[in-house]
Amino acid sequence: MSSKNGQFYLFANWKMYLDFDESNILANALAQNTKKFSKNIKMAVFPSALSLYSVGQVLNDIGVAVGAQNLYWVEKGGYTGEISAQMYKAAGCQYALVGHSERRHLFKETNDEVRKKLESALSCGLTPVLCVGETDKQRADNRAQEVVTEQLQTALSGLAWPEGRELIVAYEPVWAIGTGNNCIASDAQTMHEFIKKELEKILFKSSPVLLYGGSVRGNNVAEYLSQTDIHGVLVGGASAKLDSWLEIVERAVF
Ligand code: PGA
Repeated sequence: MSSKNGQFYLFANWKMYLDFDESNILANALAQNTKKFSKNIKMAVFPSALSLYSVGQVLNDIGVAVGAQNLYWVEKGGYTGEISAQMYKAAGCQYALVGHSERRHLFKETNDEVRKKLESALSCGLTPVLCVGETDKQRADNRAQEVVTEQLQTALSGLAWPEGRELIVAYEPVWAIGTGNNCIASDAQTMHEFIKKELEKILFKSSPVLLYGGSVRGNNVAEYLSQTDIHGVLVGGASAKLDSWLEIVERAVF
């Protein structure tokens, strides 16, 4: 199995699936199941903004980090409804998703906005998880690598990556997200290898953590983690239920 410094990354994007009570119930259930989390798993949970503080209070004690699903790039001001990177950091976040495809496609987030979000996260000590991936049309048109390259370049070109900060990129083909139509593991590996090379060109040196996301389940997680350049998974639907998440965790380590 491939890992990064001996660790597999299992990241749980709860999206808008769970309300405040449901989030806290699931966090407490995870805490009661910590024995099942092997030491070589690095786990992070991305709850809704409303529940991440209380979820973090429960999960930080068992070595599980919390992260933001989105952020705004200005620190403070008249931006009704937005939450800044600094605010997430102060509420206990270690990570932040940037450029998730649901943000890009449902909320029309542009590559330039993703760049601002990434820079803002970095500047305040959050580790961004940069999400990239092509639509089914772009894949059918043989443009997957071109689209991903543009997403990476706009987000990262010219950045001096802070020493010691993890560089995490999640490859999440849009057509695989929430569809049950997961990307074949060897195809994901091909894209991950491509992303690794692109990151070396863009940042000159890089030792990225590369996650795959898109319909990951207990029955396919091990196949992803056995690929050379897949160090972990970013899971949506199956991470928001205790049983399916524990199944992923168990299958990831055995
Ligand atoms: P999914 O979502 O596991 O439900 O396909 C993955 C994601 O959006 O991060």
